[in-house]
Amino acid sequence: MKKCIALILALALTLALAACGGNSAPATTEAPAAEAPAADATEAPAADGTEAPAAEQPGAGKSVGIAMPTQSSERWINDGANMKAQLEALGYEVILQYAEDDVQMQVSQIENMVAQMVDCLVIAAIDSGALTAVEAQAKAAGIPIVAYDRLLMDTDAVSYYASFDNEGVGRVIGEYIETAMDLANTTESYTIEFFMGSPDDNNAVLLHKGVMSVLQPYLDNGTLVCKTGRTSFEETCILRWSQETAQQWCENYLSGFYADEDLDIVCSAFDGFAYGCRSALEAAGYTEENWPLITGQDAEVMATKNIIAGKQTMSIYKDTRLLAEKCVTMVNAVCNGTEPEINDTTTYNNNVLVVPSYLCTPVAVDASNYQELLIDSGYYTAEQLDLA
Ligand code: BGC
Repeated sequence: MKKCIALILALALTLALAACGGNSAPATTEAPAAEAPAADATEAPAADGTEAPAAEQPGAGKSVGIAMPTQSSERWINDGANMKAQLEALGYEVILQYAEDDVQMQVSQIENMVAQMVDCLVIAAIDSGALTAVEAQAKAAGIPIVAYDRLLMDTDAVSYYASFDNEGVGRVIGEYIETAMDLANTTESYTIEFFMGSPDDNNAVLLHKGVMSVLQPYLDNGTLVCKTGRTSFEETCILRWSQETAQQWCENYLSGFYADEDLDIVCSAFDGFAYGCRSALEAAGYTEENWPLITGQDAEVMATKNIIAGKQTMSIYKDTRLLAEKCVTMVNAVCNGTEPEINDTTTYNNNVLVVPSYLCTPVAVDASNYQELLIDSGYYTAEQLDLA
């Protein structure tokens, strides 16, 4: 009830301010970027005359609320920073908030953004099942929503979805293992364990589906042997993508099932899991001699260093600059009535509607191509990877 009253008061205040012709952009915990134009400066041409007048900036006088899951993993920090910079360059004011994987915190952050009447919401959900009520509030207030990286399930309030081909991520991981171990031709058998993503993240379900579309036949014919027997999504998913849980599981698997035989393949859906498994393997005495093939996702700085050092075999490179760019075109579309670029209108059914999507392509990165993919492309500097 209290929340309701606060919401109504905040709405009334914002509307009153807007009616007075003041800057309706919300008060934020973060300082707006210095170069973002003020709402009432839209008529003034740039002083040096080289830039378009602020009025021509699609974001002039508009604000965007970005709700991100956590800063505990590097990728989301980059996603948030890229999107903020790109939106601010177009004149939008940006409220960027992280909820540290606390579902309730994310709900209240979005409630506040709705109360502040942002012009658009961009949400990368922690648990999208918990967001349906606040999404309905946003819709009722006329605030469009763009789903970022993770699909928003069970809602009709989402306009667009920017992501990577999430089943494709799993397929690329599966195919990497298939090629590296020459599964199609070998007469050997290899042991494998699976560490899959969070059950409340639609991406994790799709990733597992993609992995299994490649590896299931090899489990069926005995080329791959999973000694724990845990291969289904339900048996291998790790809540909130927890590195600690992955480490714990790996320790238990190694002591319980791999005392007499080495683990050959760690099929991990996330760089964080790869770090946890690395620690477990080192503690169990694995060395260069019997180090397993370890997969990951996100090509984080630490993962890339581990790839260079031979402690992780591959990761999935997802260019967050590109993803942010696609998302920004969607924000512009909902804020200015333009058409964003869409390349998928069939795959992402959120149980209520098929959300028009732009899917970027995931790419496998390993020791053979990190230089070209990550450094030459400017994604990381050689210094960041301790190479210079
Ligand atoms: C993202 C991955 C990320 C994972 C854990 C997923 O939804 O698609 O890129 O590794 O969340 O943060």
